[in-house]
Amino acid sequence: MAKTLTEQAQQESLHPKFIRDEDERPKVAYNDFSVEIPVISLAGIDEPGALRDEVCRKIVAACEDWGIFQVIDHGVDAKLITEMICLARGFFDLPPEEKLRYDMSGGKKGGFIVSSHLQGETVQDWREIVTYFSYPMRARDYSRWPEKPEGWRAVTEGYSEQLMNLACKLLEVLSEAMGLEKDALSKACVDMDQKVVVNFYPKCPQPDLTLGLKRHTDPGTITLLLQDQVGGLQATRDGGQTWITVQPIEGAFVVNLGDHGHYLSNGRFKNADHQAVVNSNCSRLSIATFQNPSPDATVYPLKIRYGDKPILEEPITYSEMYKRKMGNDLEHARLKKLAKDH
Ligand code: SIN
Ligand code: FE2
Repeated sequence: MAKTLTEQAQQESLHPKFIRDEDERPKVAYNDFSVEIPVISLAGIDEPGALRDEVCRKIVAACEDWGIFQVIDHGVDAKLITEMICLARGFFDLPPEEKLRYDMSGGKKGGFIVSSHLQGETVQDWREIVTYFSYPMRARDYSRWPEKPEGWRAVTEGYSEQLMNLACKLLEVLSEAMGLEKDALSKACVDMDQKVVVNFYPKCPQPDLTLGLKRHTDPGTITLLLQDQVGGLQATRDGGQTWITVQPIEGAFVVNLGDHGHYLSNGRFKNADHQAVVNSNCSRLSIATFQNPSPDATVYPLKIRYGDKPILEEPITYSEMYKRKMGNDLEHARLKKLAKDH
């Protein structure tokens, strides 16, 4: 049976499969927090008027400037948030054989992954995940949703619905900012997918040599991330020269714009580069809820302002965009390895 990472964490030194090349290793500590990333209160967003206009202006500026920001007063039930974190922790505290019942190494959708098993990945991420699709409803496969700890299904159903509403609200603001109908961005997703990924980063014997989650942009439209108070999420906006560690705020969501949101806005809104670092003091938990377009939705700028060129040469489907992205990532890793070996 595969060893879970929690078992590997007992070792004094890191297995070589987790050791990153020097240029990829963390540059800033997990708890060296920065307040640079905007924190936006959504109070007043539901009522037309000056307050709403001000909130919208801040959201748009944060998307143009960073592509990542935090929201508070977002209307998601605080009790649901606490329960979700508790249940997620409870899942990772289960004995290995219980978690491995959901093992998805056989290629099934959703389930438990011991570490990054992305095909062809040469270096693995220091994280365990459990993941499942929550929208569209027909994609729900309850056999891949954990049954333990008790209450998971009821809590996660409520959580998914409230996060879908919050994501749509934010997409409305961005649609309006592009001079489009309120529902333009969510319509462009066709039948919007929602995928939940619960990340668990065990404490790590040599955190300076590895990453919990390597640098990436999210492929989808918009991501809402809930994290505990440990810290470890980092973002860059100068191509990785400098990184900042996002200050955890209890009950806040980190909002990330993905590649799809970036392309639909013709590059006006950034798709933030981010990564997760780990530490040797304590484990960390985060829950990412990805709002993605349906696989056959068209990816192409919704509005190209006069004089601007489209950043995509031609319309493609989201599944094709995703395939190209993953292909590029793997090709990049393969070439890097080849250059290193010679
Ligand atoms: C993610 O990028 O999906 C997760 C990052 C984190 O755990 O902070
Ligand atoms: Fe991400």
